[in-house]
Amino acid sequence: MKALKDYFRNQFLIGAAVNQSTIDTDQELLNKHFNSITAENEMKFEEIHPEPNQYNFEIADKFMQFAEDNGIGLRGHTLVWHNQTPDWFFVDNKGNDVGRTELLRRMKEHIDTVVKRYKGRIYAWDVVNEAVEDHGEQIYRQSKWLTIIGEDFIDYAFRYAHEADPDALLFYNDYNESNPVKREKIYQLVKGMLDRGVPIHGVGLQAHWSLYHPTYGEIEAALKRYAELGLTLHITEMDVSVYAFDDKRTDLTEPSKEMLFLQAERYDRFFELFNRYAEHISSVTFWGVRDSYTWLNDFPVRGRKNWPFLLDANGQPKPAYDHIITKKESV
Ligand code: G3I
Repeated sequence: MKALKDYFRNQFLIGAAVNQSTIDTDQELLNKHFNSITAENEMKFEEIHPEPNQYNFEIADKFMQFAEDNGIGLRGHTLVWHNQTPDWFFVDNKGNDVGRTELLRRMKEHIDTVVKRYKGRIYAWDVVNEAVEDHGEQIYRQSKWLTIIGEDFIDYAFRYAHEADPDALLFYNDYNESNPVKREKIYQLVKGMLDRGVPIHGVGLQAHWSLYHPTYGEIEAALKRYAELGLTLHITEMDVSVYAFDDKRTDLTEPSKEMLFLQAERYDRFFELFNRYAEHISSVTFWGVRDSYTWLNDFPVRGRKNWPFLLDANGQPKPAYDHIITKKESV
């Protein structure tokens, strides 16, 4: 069986999110199928900078070392996000919100410290994650970053990251990226950054999809629209949940044959689209390695098993894997 990364070697990198457990248990699979990894949580704020003057780089260094020892790229995730950022970061020692200047100083210190540590080694950073509001007219999601600094917190984050590592590819990363309303907001956000000369190199489409959403038309419209920005696109967190996002069933103990077949069809069509936009897409990362672990086991229903990947719990190809590579072998 040829490896996943080899089928797409001339088109885009094939990546997987890894965590403290899978970086050890899944090394053979990672080396066989993937040429890019992303730390699922270990390079986020609360893990790497848990206290004002404390950085914990031990696990991130281990991921970096594994990547370099095995000729695998590492995507940095993520520098500025409304989630998993400790509360202390936004307040002074009396518990009051700090001002714009102080928060920009703290943002710069964090980005400098983290990005410079891996300068020339991490090939891409999700500099800002999920800053666009899902619903309504407003573009920006409410967050302390926005309310304290203002809308230009995003520009500053990218400028700081570029100063810290001029060679790293800098991405804006988001989910629901193919929803037509959010797609246009993301497009306008990034277009504005380009017009202001902000150093941004790509858009990350998280691709947290399911058997039932989004439509292929919505995905293609998003790929086409983002491609008009003239930047590179990364699929950054792909998984195909076997449940619709409003499905709260908890009775499934294993995926039905129908589910596996539908999942194979969906992945097949998704990769058809990626192949068609391969001149714009330079990396496709799954948000995990195999069905033995996925964040979807706790979202949207805590403790409910899901089976979202191409490899089963034992790391063996599922019908979805076979569908994708059969198509590749036929060309
Ligand atoms: O580290 C603590 C541990 O000490 C504690 O015992 C345990 C029990 O509560 O929680 C652990 O923290 C968990 C953390 O993952 C590390 O495992 C958090 O509760 C849990 O909420 C957190 O979930 C992560 C989630 O981001 C947080 O928003 C998921 O693993 C991770 O897959 C997910 O990834 C995000 C991307 O970064 C951005 N795009 C969406 C994607 C899915 O939400």
